[in-house]
Amino acid sequence: MSESESNHISAEGTKILESESWSGPLDHDNKVNSAKESYADRWDEFLVLSCLINSDLVGKSVVNVGVGHGKEAELLLSKGAGSVVLVDIAPGQLKSALIRKYQHGLDNLELVRCDAERLCFKDHTFDIGFIKMALHHFPNHCSAISEVFRVADKVVFIDIMNCSLTKFLNKLGLFRVEWNGSEPNRLKIEEVEKIFAHHRRNLTISYYFVPPYYGDSVALLSIIERMSRIVNTMLPRSHTLSRIFGNVAIISG
Ligand SMILES: C[S@@+](CC[C@H](N)C(=O)[O-])C[C@H]1O[C@@H](n2cnc3c(N)ncnc32)[C@H](O)[C@@H]1O
Repeated sequence: MSESESNHISAEGTKILESESWSGPLDHDNKVNSAKESYADRWDEFLVLSCLINSDLVGKSVVNVGVGHGKEAELLLSKGAGSVVLVDIAPGQLKSALIRKYQHGLDNLELVRCDAERLCFKDHTFDIGFIKMALHHFPNHCSAISEVFRVADKVVFIDIMNCSLTKFLNKLGLFRVEWNGSEPNRLKIEEVEKIFAHHRRNLTISYYFVPPYYGDSVALLSIIERMSRIVNTMLPRSHTLSRIFGNVAIISG
């Protein structure tokens, strides 16, 4: 069974759902953070900064696909990217990103509406292709990743993996459906390896355990963060633990 056939909603149905469900627009200067939003923000920033440690971003042109309202694009610009082209399929997200662009004076941010699986750019237009937490919303990973390889010389992906812990939680009925009704199309390492090999790209991968907690208890969040720090010191040294707990990965090539 192919990847798209195994999903309950068809590939085109998923794209329509994605395009319509992110309603926007958000005013980025008036955002009040709850404990769970701050927790998610800390992880987001940690993951983006972790993948920038070894990459030479300064002055580079970046295509940032599935960016939503543009937070990571803003972070990339603040860390020295020369220009960022934000791509998203949802008009609501682009409206929010436009508010962000004007409120925060992001002159080098351009917004484009298109499908990640059919990018509207010529080959080798960008230095870096960047996708964060969006590949699991795309029906066909091979098409989306191949498109980023086509338009960018280097790629960085941050996304959720189908690790053993997640599979177990799915069996218990948890995390099977996204808030908008789509089924998460999590990355499988074997699939990613095949796509990279097909394009003759070297793959570098680092796993992280990002506890999937969406509650607002400050006490629980602090315990969870401490626990995850311990697990995360062990993952780089253990292939087995990475396969069990590595629910998020930074993949580059
Ligand atoms: C979970 S959000 C991720 C947003 C942001 N990257 C982040 O980490 O917060 C997924 C984004 O992917 C976009 N998206 C979904 N399917 C897409 C497609 N086929 N092409 C382009 N963007 C898509 C959605 O509109 C949404 O903004």
